Amino acid sequence: MTLQQINTSSTIAEVNLSNYIINASGPRCTTEDELINLAQSDSAAIMTKSCTLLPRSGNPEPRYQTLEHGSVQSMGLPNLGYQAYLDMLPRLKQYNKPVIVSISGLSISDNVEMVSKFQQSEADLLEVNFSCPNVPGKPQLGYDFEQTEKALAAITKLGDKPLGIKLPAYFDMNHFETVANILKKFPIKFISSINSIGNTLVIDADTESTIIKPNSGLGGLCGSYIKPIGLANVRTFRSLLPKEICIFGVGGVYTGIDAFEYLLAGADAVQVATCYQEQGSECFTRLNNELSTILASKGYKDINEVKGKLQTI
Ligand code: SIN
Repeated sequence: MTLQQINTSSTIAEVNLSNYIINASGPRCTTEDELINLAQSDSAAIMTKSCTLLPRSGNPEPRYQTLEHGSVQSMGLPNLGYQAYLDMLPRLKQYNKPVIVSISGLSISDNVEMVSKFQQSEADLLEVNFSCPNVPGKPQLGYDFEQTEKALAAITKLGDKPLGIKLPAYFDMNHFETVANILKKFPIKFISSINSIGNTLVIDADTESTIIKPNSGLGGLCGSYIKPIGLANVRTFRSLLPKEICIFGVGGVYTGIDAFEYLLAGADAVQVATCYQEQGSECFTRLNNELSTILASKGYKDINEVKGKLQTI
């Protein structure tokens, strides 16, 4: 069996992905050049940086630091403003790849306005970000269950284009159940789980200082540090949500083995952030080859033979 014969294609809300791996809303997906680079890469979709109503330059620098096993960042949603992504969509669609627009309003009414506009656009999927931890004074929506329900009620009645939400990490079974029960009340088509772990602190003992400037040094932890948390969130939501709600696994995908683990946990596809930030778009080719190699070495021909099949001891 050759690697090309292994089927790693997937479907999110009836949108076909040619393989299991796409970029996450985060690094290198803000400008049109970056998005075209993704269009020309082996990422199965083009995911945009989370947009806001108005352009934002984001938080003061330094706001991103590479760590031994990942990164810590407090970018603060630097983006071109939603109109720029709306204008770009027809050009991005020429690459014949699904385009996923990430939306991160600073209020429910911002989200309503942007979702309404993108409902009328050529975007294939809309991901509404309920979990950015880095805008001072703006709590992570996904940790406020009342506001989450209110926001979902407002944004899910604006059109038929498939809509999903990007969730923060949860750590308590009651919270998983509460969120799953809220999601089940609305026509949500997918979740992306997880965002960076917000408000973590990395200290440089030599300089006796924080290593990023915003928020007194607190930032979102990313990369391998958070993979076990991402896997647990995917696995738990997979067991609590109906199978019609698809799941993007996010957090610490650097190798084909990481993607394979998310597949075992039940993810329909994975998103890659820190590895893409560090290695550029060639990482999608490598990750795809590695995932196919693992599947072949285990005698699997299709990701569906593995999806959600994690064994417990
Ligand atoms: C940021 O721009 O601060 C990161 C976005 C996010 O965590 O959702």
